[in-house]
Amino acid sequence: MKVDVLLGLQWGDEGKGKIVDFLAPQYDVVARFQGGPNAGHTLSFDGIKHVLHQIPSGIFRNDIKNIIGNGVVLDAVIFSKEVEALYKYNLKPRENLYISKKAQLILPTHRLLDAAWEQSKGTEKIGSTLKGIGPAYQDKVARIGLRVGDILKENFRGKYDFLVAKHEAILRSLKFDYDLKELNREYFEAIDFLKTFNLINGEYFIKNELEAGRKIIAEGAQGSLLDIDFGSYPFVTSSNTTAAGAATGLGIAPSTIGDVFGIFKAYCTRVGSGPFPTELLNETGEKIREKGHEYGATTGRPRRCGWLDLPALKYAIMINGVTRLFMMKADVLTCLDKIYVCEKYKLEDGTTTEELPFELNDIRIEPVLREFKSWKNLDFTSNVYNDLPAELRIYIDYLENQLRVPIEIISMGPDRKNTILRNKMLAPQI
Ligand code: GDP
Ligand code: IMO
Ligand code: MG
Repeated sequence: MKVDVLLGLQWGDEGKGKIVDFLAPQYDVVARFQGGPNAGHTLSFDGIKHVLHQIPSGIFRNDIKNIIGNGVVLDAVIFSKEVEALYKYNLKPRENLYISKKAQLILPTHRLLDAAWEQSKGTEKIGSTLKGIGPAYQDKVARIGLRVGDILKENFRGKYDFLVAKHEAILRSLKFDYDLKELNREYFEAIDFLKTFNLINGEYFIKNELEAGRKIIAEGAQGSLLDIDFGSYPFVTSSNTTAAGAATGLGIAPSTIGDVFGIFKAYCTRVGSGPFPTELLNETGEKIREKGHEYGATTGRPRRCGWLDLPALKYAIMINGVTRLFMMKADVLTCLDKIYVCEKYKLEDGTTTEELPFELNDIRIEPVLREFKSWKNLDFTSNVYNDLPAELRIYIDYLENQLRVPIEIISMGPDRKNTILRNKMLAPQI
């Protein structure tokens, strides 16, 4: 069996949670492979709207196993709150949630360091979610991080104190005020709670599932343009959000990866700092933000909005080897009469390019736009592709031509129901 990978092709918040939840009935296992509580994945069904941060989006189906992979950085305090919030839905995460012992732990001081470093950067700040992601991955790479499996060891407290002392020295040097006492108390309570879950050797667990013929979907967090290597560095997150991250973040061979599902919005959004060539700093951008409820699921911050950016999208498709595309939030563009797509970039010297320049952060880029008529009068009672307005089908045909990958799901609303399939193979067998 192969592992299918689902990931965002833009700057995050493409609607990954919705689609993983939608596709989940076809899979036996859903596995998160990177990121941590910086993610906010929204699921909507049966009148419920739920945001998941670290727990995979298959958790609402009791017959599906959910894995938090070794590539994730886990905050035990946020984890315990997330689990508590699931109990009211009669879910039993102790039975169908598994956590890799090799996942790194986010400590309270990682969160403080995130805030302290952001503060010290002033106008150069990344606009981090302040969840301690960067500092936790930094310690992983520095080979001083603590892992989930460490909490079972007797010397965990000693290792914790040793690392916290290092963090405190940095916090003092940055003149950052904090009080660790209460943070430590809630942290160790959460660690005790975490110990009661299935802590696993994820790589063997997945191998056994595959050998037993089970289907696995790997759920990405953030988006390809926030990737630590390929995003608009340094305005990125600290993990590989791209398909290769699924191999290292779960312990599977690259040859095990099957389909790569790439998700994008019919327009673009971005939260936090960094270049955004098609950004709309005007009333049109505000219209999209209001109609699309473009406010962060984790931080509540307003998302920056702009036109669909083809050079950036083609780049993300290339890096990930995307095999199928899913287009989200097409319903939102009904708020406009005309919409635009960026086909290429005009650079300061007057030349144009369809490639993402290395100097993206430093130069002025003018998007070269193509105009489309937007669509109106959506019929939400039909999930048949041919019932979509002609203008929307023209837009989709154009994009498929440009991107050379089929667009197989068109999402027309937050709910599971508002999902139009063009490939019956993707139909959930409920
Ligand atoms: P994720 O991080 O990729 O899982 O995405 P988020 O949950 O952060 O943000 C996507 C937002 O758009 C959520 O509020 C979803 O409920 C909502 N959403 C998802 N698909 C659609 C869609 O097709 N149309 C509309 N209007 N909203 C959608
Ligand atoms: P999901 O999984 C959108 C952004 C932050 C910031 C940058 C670095 O919901 O799509 P970090 O806290 O990771 O150090 O922040 O990355 N960012 C996201 N933007 N969706 C996300 O996750 C994000 N996770 C991080 O806003 O610009
Ligand atoms: Mg999100």
